[in-house]
Amino acid sequence: MEQSQIKNFVIIAHIDHGKSTLADRFLDLTGTVEKRKMREQFLDMMDLEREKGITIKMQPVRMSYILYSKFYILNLIDTPGHVDFSYEVSRSLAAVEGAILLVDATKGIQAQTLANLDLARKQNLVIIPAVNKIDRPEAKVQETKQELAYLLNIPAEEIFLISGKLGTNIEPLLRAVVEKVPSPKGDFQKPLRALIFDSKYDSYKGVIAYVRMFDGEVRVGEKIYLMAAKTKGEVKEVGFFKPELTSKDKLAVGEIGYIATGIKNPGEVKVGDTITILNRKSVTAFLVIPSELSKGQISNINIESLPGYKEPKPVVFTSLYPENPDDFPLLSEALERLKLNDASLTYETESREVLGRGFRCGFLGLLHTEIIIERLRREFGLNLVVSKPQVLYKIIERSGKEKLIYSVSDWPDPSQIQEVQEPLARLEVITPISYLGRILEILKALGARHLDTQYFGQDKQLLIYEVPLREIIVDFYENLKNATAGFGSMNYEILGYRASDLVKIDILVAGQKQEPFSKIVPREKLFEESKKIVHKLKEVLPPQLFSVALQAAISGKIIARETIRARAKDVIAPLYGGDYTRKRKLLEKQKKGKKAMKEKGKVNIPSKVFIEMLRS
Ligand code: GTP
Repeated sequence: MEQSQIKNFVIIAHIDHGKSTLADRFLDLTGTVEKRKMREQFLDMMDLEREKGITIKMQPVRMSYILYSKFYILNLIDTPGHVDFSYEVSRSLAAVEGAILLVDATKGIQAQTLANLDLARKQNLVIIPAVNKIDRPEAKVQETKQELAYLLNIPAEEIFLISGKLGTNIEPLLRAVVEKVPSPKGDFQKPLRALIFDSKYDSYKGVIAYVRMFDGEVRVGEKIYLMAAKTKGEVKEVGFFKPELTSKDKLAVGEIGYIATGIKNPGEVKVGDTITILNRKSVTAFLVIPSELSKGQISNINIESLPGYKEPKPVVFTSLYPENPDDFPLLSEALERLKLNDASLTYETESREVLGRGFRCGFLGLLHTEIIIERLRREFGLNLVVSKPQVLYKIIERSGKEKLIYSVSDWPDPSQIQEVQEPLARLEVITPISYLGRILEILKALGARHLDTQYFGQDKQLLIYEVPLREIIVDFYENLKNATAGFGSMNYEILGYRASDLVKIDILVAGQKQEPFSKIVPREKLFEESKKIVHKLKEVLPPQLFSVALQAAISGKIIARETIRARAKDVIAPLYGGDYTRKRKLLEKQKKGKKAMKEKGKVNIPSKVFIEMLRS
C-alpha cells in the first residue's frame, strides 16, 4: 500500500451536533462494522458515553473505501465535543491531515465550533464544512450555511448539507474527504518516528500506545525507544482499529494504529512522546549508543522528536473520600487505572479528621469531574464523599512566599496575607440576540468584564468577557442553558492569575472552629454567603441537649449567627411515681452535665453533616 492511499481525518463539532452519528454512517457506507453488530453511536464504546449521549474519549477507526477504482484506507478519529475534553481533541488533530467541521442546522455555529476550528487551523488541517440535521423540521439550513460560509470565508456552495441520521449526502462528503484531504507525508526510508496520541493498559502486552506513524515502519519483536521518557521496550504486537484492536505484521509511515510496547509501567508511556526504533542497522547509524545504553540512556543526535502536546493543567480541584474508609486502597487503585487513559487527571492523598483518608484531585472542568466520579462509582463500585469543586488560588504571604491553595483548609491566617490571586478566564458565549438581555444580567452578576462583541449572521452574537474562573466552574453552564432555552453555548480559556479581594469565612459551632465548613468568597459577598452557610448548618445539624451557637466569622469577628435551641432530654421519664428527691437529683445532674458539655464545647457533629455541607 502506498502513502497516497491513506487519508487521516477527524470530525470536529460542538457537543451534540452529530459527530458520532455521522461516523456511524461512514462505518455503514464502508462496510467496516458488520450489519448485525452495528448500533447507534458505535464509536462511543463506554457505557457512560452511550447513556449520557456524549463522547468522552476519542476513538480511532480504520475504514476501506474504493473511489474511481482506487483503494483507500481512511482513518477517522471520533472526538469529544465538550470543552472539558478539548485536550482529547487537540491530540487527535495532531494525528491527521483533515477535519470535517460539522454544524447542527437547528443550532447554528456554537462556541465549541469556533474553539475546535481554531485548533484545526493551528494544525493546518484541510477543513471540509458540513451542515448536519437538515432533516429536522426546525432546521435553519440556509441560515446555518450562510453563517458557516461567513465564518470560513468561502462560497456557500462549498458547504455540504447532510443528515447523519437519514444518511443524506454522506457519500459525497466522504468522497470530498478522499479528494481534498492530503495524504500523509513522511519518509518510509527514515527510521521510525511514531507520535503517541493515546494509550491504554493491557496486563499481557503492557502499555498499548495509539500512534500516528510519521516516518519509517515498525514490526513485532523490534526494540523501540521512547524519546522523551528515555525508555526502551519491545514490540509485542502492532495493528489498527476496527475499531477493536486488530493485529497485523507491521505499521508503516502515514498509518494510524497501535503498538503494544511491552512496557509495564504506565507512567513511562506518555501521550505526546515519540517512539523510535533501536535495533536496525539504518537506525543505529543515526543514534549514538554509547555505554549509557545499559543505564537506559541514549543520546540521540539525528532523530528529532515530533512536537508533543502541552500537558493539560487541571483547573478544578475537589476532594474525594470513600464513604466507607476501608475503601481507601480501592480508591487509590481506581484512580491509578483511570489515569492511564486520562492524562489530565491528577491526584494526591490527603486526610481529614472526620472523613479519614482520601484524595485531592485535579480536573479540567466540572463535566470532567462528574464523569470521573461516575466512573469510580460504576466501574469500581465506590461511593464517595465529594467536596465542592474549587479553583486553585495563589497567596503571596507577607514574607514574600507564594502559597498554592488547593483546599480552603490551606488558607493562611489573614495577618499573613499580602495578596490573594485567582485564575481569570476569557469566556466566549454565543447566543441568539433574543436572549441577550438575560445573558447580560447573568454576566453582570458574576462581575464579568466585557471585552468584545461579534456578530454571526442575522441574529446571533458572540460575547467575549473576562470573568473569575470560580464563577464559571460552578453553575454558569446550567444557568446559560436555562436562560437561552438551550441555544446559548460557551467556551473558556484560562488567561492567568490576577489579584482579587477574597476572604475566608470561618464557621464556629459552639465557639469551636470547624474547618470543613469554611469557604472562600469575594469580600463583597461576605455577609450574604455567611448567612447562607449558618442557615444551612442549622437545617442539617441534629438538635443538641443544650443550645448551640452557629457563627460565621472573619478574622475572629462574628458576622452571622444562628442558634439551635436545646432539645430537652426527658431524664426523669423512666421514673414513675413519687420519689421527688431522685427526680431532683437527676435534674440537677442533667444541669451539671449540660454545663460541663457547654464548657467543653463538645457538640456531636455526625459525619453525615459534614457530607451534607461539603455537597452543598
Ligand atoms: P458529542 O460527542 O457528545 O459531542 O455528540 P456528537 O456530536 O457525537 O452527537 P451525536 O452523534 O451523539 O448526536 C447527538 C444527537 O443528535 C443524537 O440524539 C442523534 O441521534 C442526533 N442526530 C445526529 N445527527 C442527526 C441528524 O442528521 N438528524 C437528526 N434529526 N438527528 C441527528
